[in-house]
Amino acid sequence: MAKRHDGVRVLIPQEAIEARIGELAAAIDQDFATSERLICVGVLKGSVFFLVDLLKHLKVPAEIDFFQTSSYGSGTSPGEVRIKKDIDLSIRNKDVLLIEDIVDSGYTLRTILDLFRFRGARSVRLCALLDKREARKVEVPIDYCGFVIDNLFVVGYGLDFDERYRNLPYVGVYEGSGKDPEEDPGKDPA
Ligand code: IMP
Ligand code: MG
Repeated sequence: MAKRHDGVRVLIPQEAIEARIGELAAAIDQDFATSERLICVGVLKGSVFFLVDLLKHLKVPAEIDFFQTSSYGSGTSPGEVRIKKDIDLSIRNKDVLLIEDIVDSGYTLRTILDLFRFRGARSVRLCALLDKREARKVEVPIDYCGFVIDNLFVVGYGLDFDERYRNLPYVGVYEGSGKDPEEDPGKDPA
């Protein structure tokens, strides 16, 4: 029986996500064909569904690790990103593929990208399922992008509103229950 969730409108159906992931995996396989040292780093928690499905398609040998951030509380400037969980593996001289659910302001990925380069990764590339391009505050080059979407609050396939809806098999627009997700976006932890 199909899952139904009130207040969520399907934006990207499961089949479209699956098809796009196959294309992204093929592009990644091609680009990293000669790499012996690919480490895929998922940004918790939102990227988990995407990471698992993408990596099942990859043919190149890949190691897996996770990173988690959160924003600082009030009183600090926007864009300050705190490390909540660091990676366990060393990335020195390795090729890193950062895997993220959605790029919104860009602060999260910009911070991780700069940190991983500083730590001596041989290369750092970004793979994001969704690109909310209109919302960008800092430039982030997305090497592998699933879908560009409008500036809407989306849930499902890993993305949450207040920790809910992550397990929907599709990406949907949160149309809510009268609560404005922009005021309480459930973004933290990502
Ligand atoms: P940033 O603004 O690019 O730093 O994005 C930070 C994090 O906010 C993302 O990794 C997501 O976890 C979360 N986020 C941004 N937009 C949405 C959305 O529309 N729905 C759910 N989570 C979001
Ligand atoms: Mg995220």
